[in-house]
Amino acid sequence: GLVTSTEMFKKAYEGGYAVGAFNVNNMEIIQGIVEAAAEEQAPLILQVSAGARKYAHPVYLRKLVEAAIEVTGLDICLHLDHGDDFEICKTCVDSGFTSVMVDGSKHPFAENIALTKKVVEYAHDHGVVVEAELGKLAGIEDDVNVDTPNATYTDPDEAVEFVEKTGCDSLAITIGTSHGAFKFKGEPRLDFERLYKISDLLPGFPLVLHGASSVPKEFVDLCNQYGGQIPGAKGVPEDMLRKAAKSGVCKINIDTDLRLAMTASIRQVFVENPGWFDPRQYLGPGRSAIKAMVAHKIKNVLDCSHK
Ligand code: G3H
Ligand code: 13P
Ligand code: ZN
Ligand code: NA
Repeated sequence: GLVTSTEMFKKAYEGGYAVGAFNVNNMEIIQGIVEAAAEEQAPLILQVSAGARKYAHPVYLRKLVEAAIEVTGLDICLHLDHGDDFEICKTCVDSGFTSVMVDGSKHPFAENIALTKKVVEYAHDHGVVVEAELGKLAGIEDDVNVDTPNATYTDPDEAVEFVEKTGCDSLAITIGTSHGAFKFKGEPRLDFERLYKISDLLPGFPLVLHGASSVPKEFVDLCNQYGGQIPGAKGVPEDMLRKAAKSGVCKINIDTDLRLAMTASIRQVFVENPGWFDPRQYLGPGRSAIKAMVAHKIKNVLDCSHK
């Protein structure tokens, strides 16, 4: 059924692995992810962004997730990704989400605390858990100053104060990941010392990594080979994610890799079969590509198969 992430995170923390949180936007994406999780008997978080709600309509997404549970018998956590304000978090709590993220990371510390606390009070009253965020993720549009990247990273002492004052159930931290397909200009680098410090100061507390797609070279190459143009795409190496999962990180967010897997596969179908125009002929392979990618993550990166 629909479950919160509480038990998933407890087991992931103790087991030194992570649960995948995959962004969903349509039926084929949901089916591909869920088929993989069902075959691997893996814990699963499906997350919905404001953009996803706008694209697909919240009711369609919720019903599709309910269908996934009915068909597979899996336990799934339905999570709001990057809730900007109290209202969207409340709306999702009221409509059956089991987890919400309130993203107050763009606000000053005290305002982030106040907003998060308000969401925590409402959500906990309704049996829903809350992820918060402290620190700023670099965006692809941001011209990050390479000399002072740490200025926007999560401060370990602030993280402790933030968790104590808000009562949030998990915390997204920034140690060098970023959203999208262009995460690093040079060599990939994450601030593991910072992660270890935060994790030491918050023993037993689940941490979250956003911007954790690996941007697999095979998908980028396929896209580029079949008419795409995404040069210079780069993600977080898989061994870094495995390392993070051993040190307090219980939730790893993946959206870009779903987009790349589906698009690479559809591009290939289009080029190789110019006469095809039945959407099932390309959305089917897109769904299969997602399933294979997610199964690989579950087995080889998150280490959450049969957990
Ligand atoms: O946080 C970013 C996720 O990839 C969601 O992206 O806002 O375009 O749905 P989106
Ligand atoms: P990616 O862009 O690396 O897939 O990150 C997704 C994410 O953090 C969603 O909240
Ligand atoms: Zn994110
Ligand atoms: Na973990």
